[in-house]
Amino acid sequence: MSDGPAAVEPFDAVDVIRAKRDGGEVPEGALRWMVDAYTRGYVMDAQMSAFAMAVLLNGMTRDEIRVMTDAMIASGERMSFTGLGKPTVDKHSTGGVGDKITLPLAPLVASFGVAVPQLSGRGLGHTGGTLDKLESIPGWRAALSNDEIVAQLHDVGAVICAAGSGLAPADKKLYALRDVTGTVEAIPLIASSIMSKKIAEGTHSLVLDVKFGSGAFMHDIERARELARTMVALGTDSGVATTAVLTDMNTPLGLAIGNANEVRESVEVLAGGGPADVVELTVALAREMLSLAGQPDADVETALADGRAMDAWRAMIRAQDGDPDAALPVPRETHTVTADAAGVVERMDALPFGIAAWRLGAGRARAEDPVVHAAGIDLHVKPGDAVAAGQPLFTLSADDGSRFDRALTALDGAWHVGAQAPAVQSIVRERITA
Ligand code: URA
Repeated sequence: MSDGPAAVEPFDAVDVIRAKRDGGEVPEGALRWMVDAYTRGYVMDAQMSAFAMAVLLNGMTRDEIRVMTDAMIASGERMSFTGLGKPTVDKHSTGGVGDKITLPLAPLVASFGVAVPQLSGRGLGHTGGTLDKLESIPGWRAALSNDEIVAQLHDVGAVICAAGSGLAPADKKLYALRDVTGTVEAIPLIASSIMSKKIAEGTHSLVLDVKFGSGAFMHDIERARELARTMVALGTDSGVATTAVLTDMNTPLGLAIGNANEVRESVEVLAGGGPADVVELTVALAREMLSLAGQPDADVETALADGRAMDAWRAMIRAQDGDPDAALPVPRETHTVTADAAGVVERMDALPFGIAAWRLGAGRARAEDPVVHAAGIDLHVKPGDAVAAGQPLFTLSADDGSRFDRALTALDGAWHVGAQAPAVQSIVRERITA
């Protein structure tokens, strides 16, 4: 028996590619079809990569970005938290070196009675993944069903878990294609990729931490600003109250770069201590989130100092079968680098420190690789600190000492001890609102 005639496709991928290649605007119906037909496998990888390259070179209008985002949302399921009876607010960071802010931030914000659904990912390359960090905690479970997420938001307030494959599958396929075709950097594609997942997740409001600098996706602040503005507009147009902050990622955030050591540092922040830059950013983002959730005057510092945020952290870890009191993995081998001469630390470049931590085993080169939870780097000083000759600058940790050489090669020229203290600047440089 014949299957009957194949359905006639309403558009032609080559026409869509040509329109973008020649600098035109792709009509809404054609763009929606392109995303849908690619997800179904009718539009080929070769065609979608030509289209992505045309977008990278010629950009997209605000309307096209909105349609692209919407089409990716429509490719999968949409979650809803409207039945929770409390506001939901999420945070997304474009990723950086030592960026563990989600860990103290989610329970801190939840301690004010707000629901924080943080559907997160694993790390690839030099920026770490939130789930990899939390998986250092014995027993902790990243995979939750939608019902478990809702129940935990109701009971505890904060959830950090793996984003299910049902959210924006078109983005999953397109992001993997962009990764191997030199088209990740297109701002309209980054914005639609991030926002399709956040909008599909169903949060009421969203704070974006858009990083710039050597350890960030966007090296210069102008491109970070353009990305932030594009995402704020997309969120706003879709009914998600969205604010962005532009933050400096030229120096690693905090003193810990890795997985288990970043959990340790996050717990210090939740105990009212921790490095000043991690505290500054955690507090700034918590204020933005609580302001969107209707609590602009929330006393965030007190919730860190009096243990309320720590209580929420412990409840959050326990709810996902983790033991907040269990010992975290410790490395088998360490190697400490010391200062050759006295002086002041002039700079520590985020990107080489991220690459070195990755080479030590803290990150993965391929999605299927495991990470070594105890591997990473602990800084003992930061730019601006005075050091004596022989004073420890940082310690590398690994399960296998043969990894130190390649990590040290990555760090060649990455820091400098000299005479000139760098200018003190706040990490949060700008705020972008609708
Ligand atoms: N993160 C995403 O989810 N998508 C991008 O395109 C870039 C960063």
